[in-house]
Amino acid sequence: MPWNLTSTHAQSGDLALLVGLRHKHFIFPLIPGGTFHTHRGILNHDELIGKPWGSQVFSHQGAPFFMLQPSLADLLVDLKRSTQIMYPKDIGFILTSMSIGPGQRVMEAGTGSGSMTIALAYAVGPQGRVVSYERREDFQKLAQKNLARLGLEERVTLKLGDIAAGFAETNADAFFLDLPNPWDYIAQVRAALKPGGFFCNLVPTFNQVETLLYALRREHFAFIEVCEILLRYYKTEPSRLRPTDRMVAHTGFLIFARKIEPGEDERVKELLEEHSLVEDSESNR
Ligand SMILES: C[S@@+](CC[C@H](N)C(=O)[O-])C[C@H]1O[C@@H](n2cnc3c(N)ncnc32)[C@H](O)[C@@H]1O
Repeated sequence: MPWNLTSTHAQSGDLALLVGLRHKHFIFPLIPGGTFHTHRGILNHDELIGKPWGSQVFSHQGAPFFMLQPSLADLLVDLKRSTQIMYPKDIGFILTSMSIGPGQRVMEAGTGSGSMTIALAYAVGPQGRVVSYERREDFQKLAQKNLARLGLEERVTLKLGDIAAGFAETNADAFFLDLPNPWDYIAQVRAALKPGGFFCNLVPTFNQVETLLYALRREHFAFIEVCEILLRYYKTEPSRLRPTDRMVAHTGFLIFARKIEPGEDERVKELLEEHSLVEDSESNR
């Protein structure tokens, strides 16, 4: 795997992160005989291979760089993209909220550039499976390349098609939906999920959240939660500790839900009401 976080020294084929002055950074694979060109000179891969991670390395002009293993967050932010992508700030919370872990079968649509697909594939491990649907072949190809760069492509089945037609899969442990009109596909998602399965969606506007909430109620999803993740970085100068000047103020709203099986038993009525699962005129919107 080109991204081997357990190694102590850079090896041939590994992805390396170089960080130079003013935080200028580069991620690339180490190839014997290869060279890497920066605005501050050229680095020979052969001089990097074999060095401990965390070392300082130099270009032919003497410009210094730290050499590190890229983190998953570094790789996702660095991803080649043709679409909006999912960012580490949201991905981290989604993975824990949906309990994505080794051996699980997880579904996703749309694949886009594959940022979320990569994070899901990493989390499910070699025994798990991610099935990801995308209707644009050019985006799917890019996602395939991005997965292959990290050696994660064998954990993922990429499917080409419009999800309006539904999914071939059933009993998925979790489903992540990231497209502009999620409310149109909640019935299809329900059919693909196992009973009790986890659902999550990200949408950028309030209006989309509202329409999605009605669709989730209509399709008998419960434990619905809406939230957003605000992440603020700090300048790390101990004597002048303060927030950085800029922040990403908004990516999207996260909507979580679980697929439940509503019963007919009279005794469950109050519980269903508490979870907004009793039909009212609004829930049909
Ligand atoms: C915002 S992008 C997804 C980004 C992705 N989560 C990532 O992290 O890179 C939305 C994707 O959904 C795809 N899409 C939109 N509607 C679709 C549909 N009905 N069926 C399949 N894919 C669809 C689009 O082509 C686009 O690639």
